[in-house]
Amino acid sequence: MAPSLQFFVMTLASTAIVSALSPPICQTVAPLQKVLDIQTANLTIDNAPFGIIYASNDIAFVGVAETVAVLNTSTFPPTQLSSFPVHFGNTGFPTVQGLAITRNKKTLYLSVGPGAIAVDVKKAVAGAANPIAGYLNGTAGTTSIETTLSLHDEYVFVTQEDGTTATKDNGTIEVFHVQRASNGSVSSTYVGYIELGYLVVGSALSPDGSRLYVTSEQINEDATQGTLSVLDVETLKTNPSAALLATAGAGCGAVRVAVSHDGKHVWVTARESNKLLAFDAAKLESNSSSALIASVQVGTSPVGLHFVNHGRHIITADSNRFSSPNTTTGLTVVDVEAALNGTQGFPRIPTGLFPRELALSPDGKTLLVSDYSSDIIQAVNVTQLT
Ligand SMILES: *[C@@H]1O[C@H](CO)[C@@H](O)[C@H](O)[C@H]1NC(C)=O
Ligand SMILES: *[C@@H]1O[C@H](CO)[C@@H](O)[C@H](O)[C@H]1NC(C)=O
Ligand SMILES: *[C@@H]1O[C@H](CO)[C@@H](O)[C@H](O)[C@H]1NC(C)=O
Ligand SMILES: *[C@@H]1O[C@H](CO)[C@@H](O)[C@H](O)[C@H]1NC(C)=O
Ligand SMILES: *[C@@H]1O[C@H](CO)[C@@H](O)[C@H](O)[C@H]1NC(C)=O
Ligand SMILES: *[C@@H]1O[C@H](CO)[C@@H](O)[C@H](O)[C@H]1NC(C)=O
Ligand SMILES: *[C@@H]1O[C@H](CO)[C@@H](O)[C@H](O)[C@H]1NC(C)=O
Ligand SMILES: *[C@@H]1O[C@H](CO)[C@@H](O)[C@H](O)[C@H]1NC(C)=O
Ligand SMILES: *[C@@H]1O[C@H](CO)[C@@H](O)[C@H](O)[C@H]1NC(C)=O
Repeated sequence: MAPSLQFFVMTLASTAIVSALSPPICQTVAPLQKVLDIQTANLTIDNAPFGIIYASNDIAFVGVAETVAVLNTSTFPPTQLSSFPVHFGNTGFPTVQGLAITRNKKTLYLSVGPGAIAVDVKKAVAGAANPIAGYLNGTAGTTSIETTLSLHDEYVFVTQEDGTTATKDNGTIEVFHVQRASNGSVSSTYVGYIELGYLVVGSALSPDGSRLYVTSEQINEDATQGTLSVLDVETLKTNPSAALLATAGAGCGAVRVAVSHDGKHVWVTARESNKLLAFDAAKLESNSSSALIASVQVGTSPVGLHFVNHGRHIITADSNRFSSPNTTTGLTVVDVEAALNGTQGFPRIPTGLFPRELALSPDGKTLLVSDYSSDIIQAVNVTQLT
């Protein structure tokens, strides 16, 4: 792929007071971006890597079809230590999708088919043949995509992209109460679910643990516009279907969501708009139609997003997952403050095919990217970003 020399920077607003924006329309192919020369290196992996997460600076996990690979991340790129199989249902998405890990790093959660699977981290790192610690069996779907944990890891929220006929094919969030025994096993109680829009995939917790932000790719089956929903976590714990606080339009194909470290901004990738959107968290609840404050052009079909450099940058995984001709895949490096000021024209780091999910090492030095269609884990030296 030849690097493009086209690089446009437009400052649309020079003051910090940004007026409300309308959700972006759909866009097929993103404009060309300047290429950044940043050190990367590849680990070849079996087949279609998806969710990825670090347990420590030296260990990461990646979902690879119906297995989980354990990576030794003490080298650049990482090496694979071992893998173990997982099975949970054979309809929907029986493969491992998003990953989450408890704050004490003892339990890993895998989003799979009808819910989530808990894994004993210590056993998995030791190479145990079966490190499974428990099953979180849901009822409202077989297409689990992301798992998000409550602040103290005692509740587990699972997005079910497609829901079931009982939810009229609306996607859902399923809620589980979990307990870890001293031997590492995890037992769960099913609390219930809430129906949201169509194709519910992304979720993220606010830093204070009081809100769960959730994306739906489409408002309903016939729409192109997606939504960002705000859910009240206390209500989710007892009566999930009553937890919806607010909904905002979030562009075409809203897929993943991340919250700033101070909780003030909620960022969403609008995959079919090729945009990274910023919402004002307070305005989402006071007047959601005024909450969209930045709409940032990124590459084609952004999916994963991750803060790096202590929140200074956001990296998006521009997947080109619909394989549009004449476009690139890559990671757009967005300067957060400049983006909030209306700046456009951010550059990219090239990747393999279908970069999907991202994980940052605890020391903040390395970003791992799962390139789903190139069967590689790409390590990126993010200390080189200035
Ligand atoms: C990871 O790799 C490093 C460097 O090769 C090695 O020293 C270390 O023992 C490995 N860790 C594990 C858990 O195998
Ligand atoms: C949950 O799923 C697991 C794995 O398929 C199964 O072994 C277990 O019996 C299920 N538990 C319940 C309560 O349905
Ligand atoms: C672990 O502890 C739980 C709860 O006390 C118990 O139900 C389970 O059988 C134990 N599992 C193993 C493998 O000992
Ligand atoms: C669920 O689906 C129905 C039919 O498609 C739709 O009218 C309704 O608004 C959806 N509910 C939610 C909460 O999105
Ligand atoms: C909500 O925001 C919209 C868009 O900025 C604005 O037109 C409307 O007046 C606001 N509503 C209230 C009640 O403030
Ligand atoms: C892709 O770009 C090439 C070279 O500019 C052009 O000939 C071709 O028509 C383009 N294809 C599509 C589908 O736009
Ligand atoms: C953003 O705007 C603020 C307020 O005008 C200004 O202080 C700051 O330097 C700007 N930052 C960038 C990166 O443009
Ligand atoms: C990593 O793999 C991708 C996809 O095959 C390739 O484009 C890239 O050049 C590789 N990077 C390195 C550093 O080898
Ligand atoms: C990452 O880049 C920094 C700055 O250029 C360099 O000092 C460091 O050695 C690089 N890390 C690796 C693993 O090569």
